[in-house]
Parts: sequence; C-alpha cells; structure tokens
Amino acid sequence: MREQFLLNPEYTHLNHGSFGATPRAILENYQSFQLEMERDPVYFVQKKFGQHLAKAKDALSSFIHCEAKDFFFTANPTVAINTVMRSLNLKVGDEILSTNQEYGAMDRTWHFYCKMSGVKYIRQPISLPITSKEKILEEFWKGLTANTKIIFLNHISSATALIFPVKEICDKARALGITTIIDGAHVPGHIDLDITEMNPDYYTGTLHKWMLAPKGASFLYVRNELQHQLEPLIVSWGYESLMPGESQFLDYHEYQGTNDNSAFLCTPAVIDFLQKNHWKEQSALAKALVLENYPRFCKLLGSQEIAPLTNEFFGQMASVPVQTKNPQALKDLLYDKYKIQVPIMVLNENVYLRYSINAYNSQADLDILFQALENILQTTNLIQI
Ligand SMILES: Cc1ncc(COP(=O)(O)O)c(C=O)c1O
Repeated sequence: MREQFLLNPEYTHLNHGSFGATPRAILENYQSFQLEMERDPVYFVQKKFGQHLAKAKDALSSFIHCEAKDFFFTANPTVAINTVMRSLNLKVGDEILSTNQEYGAMDRTWHFYCKMSGVKYIRQPISLPITSKEKILEEFWKGLTANTKIIFLNHISSATALIFPVKEICDKARALGITTIIDGAHVPGHIDLDITEMNPDYYTGTLHKWMLAPKGASFLYVRNELQHQLEPLIVSWGYESLMPGESQFLDYHEYQGTNDNSAFLCTPAVIDFLQKNHWKEQSALAKALVLENYPRFCKLLGSQEIAPLTNEFFGQMASVPVQTKNPQALKDLLYDKYKIQVPIMVLNENVYLRYSINAYNSQADLDILFQALENILQTTNLIQI
C-alpha cells in the first residue's frame, strides 16, 4: 500500500491525521481535471464543471448519507464553520456550549464571534481519563444554561484524538431546541457517518484527511429548514442570481469566483479507490494496531491511558500524554534525528504525542517510534517520567 502513496520513504509517517495523504491514482484523477480545464477553460468552467460537480455530490451524498441538495463543498472546515458563524444571529448574553477539546482554529473563530457579538463561548471541561460515554455526557450537559443557543462540538477531537458521542448530544439538543454545529473534520472515511441518522443542524467534514482526497476538499451540510438563513461567506454571482437554480442555498454557496475546484471533482474516484482497496477492512486493521500499541506507549512514557481501549473512543489515531517542558523540541528531535513525522500537541496545558495509522503503516513504524522514544528517554531530559 505504501507504494501507492508519494510519502517520502526516508521518513516514518505517523501523522495521517493532520493533512491526510493522497494515493497516486487519486492524484492522477485530480490532475486530469486540471488538464481538462486547461484545454478549454471557458468550456470547462461554464459547461463541464457543473456536470462533474453533480457527479461528485451524488457520490458523496451516498457516502455520508444525506441528500446532495443539502450540502456544498468548501475548501476546509475553517471555511465551513466561518460560513455558519457569520450567519448566526445571537444576542448579548446568549451562549455557545462547547468542550475544552476543540480544534484551535475553531476556538479562535468562536472567540472572534463572541468579541463582536457579546455572546459567551463555554469550553465545558471534559475530564481525562474518560471513563464512559455517560460520564462525557454528564460533564458536557453541566454546561447547559437557559442561555445556551448553540452547541458546537468536534466528532473526533484533534489533540486527544477521541470520538465524542455526538448522536446523543444532537438528539438531546434537538429536543431542547438548541442548534447543533458539528465539526467532523476527522470523520469521513475514518468512522461511520450517517448524517441523516445523526440529524445535526450543521455538519462539516473533510475528504482530504481520511478519505484520501487531494487537499482542499471538505463540505458543509445544512439541515433543510435552516438553509434559507445561511448567508454567503463570499458574495458572488449566485447572490441575486440572473439564472437562479432550484435552490437559493446552493446558488449562494456553490460558486464563489474563479477557482480550481478539481479536488472536489475527484470524489467519485476517491470513493472508488476506497472500495477497490477494501478500505473498511484496512481501517479495521489500522484501528486494531492503534489499540494494541496504546498501553505500550503509555507505559513507556509513564502516562495514564486517556480512555477505555475500545473503538467507541479510539479510531485510527491515539494520543499518548507526554510530560515535557519543550514539545516543539521533542517534535523537532523526532523529525530531524529519527526521521519520524508525528505531532506533539498541546491542549489545556497538557502535551500529547498523537500517532495515526493508515493502510500504508505497519507495526514496524510504531516500533521505530517506540525505539526512538526509548532512546530519547535514555539520552536526553526532554521527557520526564
Ligand atoms: C477537529 C478539527 N477540526 C478542523 C480541522 C481542520 O481545519 P482546517 O483544515 O480548516 O484548518 C482539524 C484538522 O486537523 C481538526 O482536527
């Protein structure tokens, strides 16, 4: 499988989570759209693009289980969440309930919104180690007040790499009349996703992480009843359109000026690749490897396991707490000396080493990381145990 990716063979790549990695076959499909565009850019943009986009949306709608008319492609989750944020109409004193494990760019988006609007962003603490789903829910709902208008939640967290019980939270929020905005950046192609069953108000996910698409392919789903109130983040021809389509929602959001959107158009090839290469099985093997190795790394680093060792909480990534005063130096050392690409993440003053496993990894990669850490423990004082 490694042969199918362009990853530098001199390095051990244990960081699929940050920016994904795309196999050659999908990159070829991506480039074929660019070549097609350059043969006749006008014809491509005005005639062909719409047809390719419709195919891409159809393919994705079956993969994430929602209707093609209810989502549009975005470059990344930041664009998606900023689009939602810019259309919220909250008032001073209203609250956005979230957790203390969200992605930094999203925290910043909400800080920005709250500064402008006088709304409060509540980073409800979820304590580690997680002991059960019920405990997460109990701690999360302690942040609920009469002023809670929005719930913003990651489906899989970045620094701690944990899976959150979003379905249960969406159900209760719906019953309470609270809007849910779910950040599923790490979800598509990683764990099962059925948006219709989950029934959130807004859901963003990427194709360029675990679905292996070229970078710049993500989406924003919006529940039908809310689509009319979502303003375009970028105003373009679809606003006051001269040729309105069936949906003002799609007119507003699907065209935002001249761009290279080939990454979106690869979706059918992406899904085809996943199916042909038995990605469900590959993913199950990767998840098993993640779990098998986790206690070993925790033991080596003198750390507590941050959640029960099951696929309820762990997917193809795991974060091991590390005691270090210099996370950047540790990351640099692993990369420069040991040629290991693995992120060292800081969240709420804790540091985590997060390894990702994909079909191109094997036990040997984790053994290389293990030996490097053993060596660092013996030869430096970068890690305290
Ligand atoms: C939870 C979460 N949200 C969002 C993102 C990505 O956002 P963007 O690509 O827009 O920076 C990530 C990326 O790792 C993430 O882990």
